[in-house]
Amino acid sequence: MKDQIYQVAIDGPSGAGKSTIAKKLAEILHIDYIDTGAMYRAIGYKIKKKNVDMYDEGTLHELLADTVVDLHEGRIFLDGEDVSSVIRTPEMSKMASDCSALAAVRQKLVELQRHMAKSKSVIMDGRDIGTNVLTDARFKIYLTASVEERARRRYKELLEKGEAVTLQEVEEDMRRRDYNDSHRQLNPLRKAEDAVEIDSTAMTMDEVVERILNIVDGR
Ligand code: DC
Repeated sequence: MKDQIYQVAIDGPSGAGKSTIAKKLAEILHIDYIDTGAMYRAIGYKIKKKNVDMYDEGTLHELLADTVVDLHEGRIFLDGEDVSSVIRTPEMSKMASDCSALAAVRQKLVELQRHMAKSKSVIMDGRDIGTNVLTDARFKIYLTASVEERARRRYKELLEKGEAVTLQEVEEDMRRRDYNDSHRQLNPLRKAEDAVEIDSTAMTMDEVVERILNIVDGR
């Protein structure tokens, strides 16, 4: 498979470990990692920064037409500015979830994501990769974990970054995002019929990586 182009799609709810695992796999498989959640976060960040009404179609259209999102060596750039750190806050999680329900936002980012995955092997994670962005992906994984476990993991991460949050707040936020992301009209989070489901609740990240490597055979 070394010389063949292939795509790995990883979908699942927030905090299931998708990005940690996708990053590790990308390193092991020597392929590019595309973090689509970061792209929605970058748009959410711009909406917030410019203080625009994202529900006003004209305004949103103008903002999107004037926006460049780019991924480069594990960093995300918004109009040339490295926003990798500032998009990782609970406020930006909410902004990303909210703006990701809007058709114009999805249309722009899905097009860009497909373009990024054209003509090279990639591992891409998100909510609608296997069901919408890369429906022909050779490998599709649906990664889940219980909401309590996902909240615990996210809480730990936020504490390490010095964010002042409680476990209860993180869990409530996660439940709300789960609901938003799986109930929106456009490309909601769901498992693709041909995806392999992995429940990581009682697994270490290394075990999950190993499990997926077994699926992505022929390395
Ligand atoms: O993976 P994440 O938590 O960084 O994603 C932030 C939000 O972006 C998530 O709540 C829903 C949205 N998203 C999406 O709608 N589709 C994707 N492919 C990736 C993320």
